[in-house]
Amino acid sequence: MSDIAQSVKQQADIVRVIGEYVRLKKAGAQNYSGLCPFHKEKSPSFSVHAVRQFYHCFGCGVSGDVFSFVGKIENVGFPEAIRIVAQKCGIALPKREYNSPEEARESRQRGKLLELHEQATAWFEEQLRLPEGAVAREYLSGRGLTPEAIGRFRIGFAPDNFNALRERLQGSADVEMLRLSGLFSFKQQEDGSSGSIYSRFRKRITFPIANESGRIIAFTARALDSGDKAGPKYMNSPETPLYSKGQVLFNLDKAKQTIRQHDFAILVEGQMDCISVYLAGVQNVLATSGTAFTEQQVNLLKRFTSKVVVNFDPDTAGANAAEKSIVLLTEEGFEIKVVTLEGGLDPDRYIREKGAPAYIAALRSARRQQDYLIDRARQLFPGRNSESKVKALNFLLPHIRRMPSRLTRDEFAADAAQKLGIDSAVLREELKQAAARRREKVVSPTSGVSQVEKILLRGFCGESGHPVFDTLAAALESEPAQFEGLTVRTALESLLHRGSAQPLESISEGRSRALLAQVLLEETDPVTEQEAQFALENLRLQFLEGRQRALRAAISEAERKGDWGLLTALTAEKLSIDRELRAVGAG
Ligand code: UTP
Ligand code: MN
Repeated sequence: MSDIAQSVKQQADIVRVIGEYVRLKKAGAQNYSGLCPFHKEKSPSFSVHAVRQFYHCFGCGVSGDVFSFVGKIENVGFPEAIRIVAQKCGIALPKREYNSPEEARESRQRGKLLELHEQATAWFEEQLRLPEGAVAREYLSGRGLTPEAIGRFRIGFAPDNFNALRERLQGSADVEMLRLSGLFSFKQQEDGSSGSIYSRFRKRITFPIANESGRIIAFTARALDSGDKAGPKYMNSPETPLYSKGQVLFNLDKAKQTIRQHDFAILVEGQMDCISVYLAGVQNVLATSGTAFTEQQVNLLKRFTSKVVVNFDPDTAGANAAEKSIVLLTEEGFEIKVVTLEGGLDPDRYIREKGAPAYIAALRSARRQQDYLIDRARQLFPGRNSESKVKALNFLLPHIRRMPSRLTRDEFAADAAQKLGIDSAVLREELKQAAARRREKVVSPTSGVSQVEKILLRGFCGESGHPVFDTLAAALESEPAQFEGLTVRTALESLLHRGSAQPLESISEGRSRALLAQVLLEETDPVTEQEAQFALENLRLQFLEGRQRALRAAISEAERKGDWGLLTALTAEKLSIDRELRAVGAG
């Protein structure tokens, strides 16, 4: 590590830096823990060691120092990570270091584009204050925005002028860079030569879009006039090296602190909604900017909370976007509530017409997603005949299946049956099946060390004679095949055969020892019998499902070859496995 990196590392506090991305709680004298930003999880297995200045995730196995964390989470190389850490901690860097000329070039380009966006923002703000900006100022004050609010969100005005912005910026960048910024449109000349560029946003109110750290990376601009000539109501920056629409959440920079504090975020559609809600004093609000959530946005949000209140517009587009977002968020394990504002109002108009306290009351009365969805099903298919009921049910079933917990699924199914007035035995059975089907994918090959494996490791750290240890040990000895393929298998075996006086951490080498050290480092309660049971059941399910897959392949192979003796034997085994899986509700 270079001297610069070394010196930045010594001055930076990893807990503080990581704390900007992950909600950390103190978990011991020198440890902090939180939800891992690098894999999906519901209980915290990510920990940061304050004294030794490293982080480690017990769930997915990532670990490293402050630079590796920032590099991973910001998706940048080592030199850029150093720069970011230095900047966050207010450490001055002598000069920059790059791995390759391209990296240096890209970084310069990003820097230049950020600078252009900053200049453009200032210029739009300036235009709003000029006499030509009067119409825009009137428009904004008509929407209840005070000059302070305008300043706070750095709202500006792009005048009806094709060239003024270019003239302002061309001293600081060449045409190619201006074109890359997305601030301009480009007209190809007829002879094919590089034509001229002109302002993309004209006669529009400009709203800067910032990245997570508050740097402006794009704009969305609202037409002052309506009608065909004015173009779309909102016009966005195109995709640029700085900006990709599906990866950004409007207002995240201002909201993130409050989102962490309150452990939930409010999602609205429009940036005006977002601004109004924020100014009403509810600061943990983000805008998706008119579309359903993308997976990248969910992952971004997940670093701050796993609870959301969705408050989309009460029109069809809004309801559809809400539904799509609910699907994605549910899959990512979010706890979701939904607000539908009365009177068909969007959050912005609701606050203006009824006031902030009324809006806050509406937020408090947000419904759980299952209640919202059942109401929505009834609204979409209002009839009381069996055809409407089937349709309503079909609308709900996929949502029910996606809920992560069995308890919620059962409850959801029961509510749906009751509220839709479903009396047919067949439909009830459908509901029951939907509730039974989803099983948590606990052992996932991608997440490194799974929840189940962690339970096993912790359990095996116990003493012989303890019921949990004995149950697990018996299972490993009698059904070794079920432990096949586990990352922690070697570690478990060493633990099983260790002498009673031998300290745990002296047991095994390499990877196993590292895993063990993690478990010992982690401050958790002893494994309960229930947890042990859960882990063993999961192993068995995994095993059976694997066997089922293998049998399916073997059966079709036997069929192809016409080996009827083998086919009979395989089919019999498969039937018995199918039966066992069905019995535990996983068929
Ligand atoms: P809405 O049409 O609900 O806008 O679209 P709004 O926020 O209520 O707009 P105001 O209050 O009339 O100013 C919701 C969001 O969809 C995106 C914008 O992000 C908008 O805030 N949108 C809408 C576009 O991207 N383009 C459009 O032409 C319209
Ligand atoms: Mn709206």
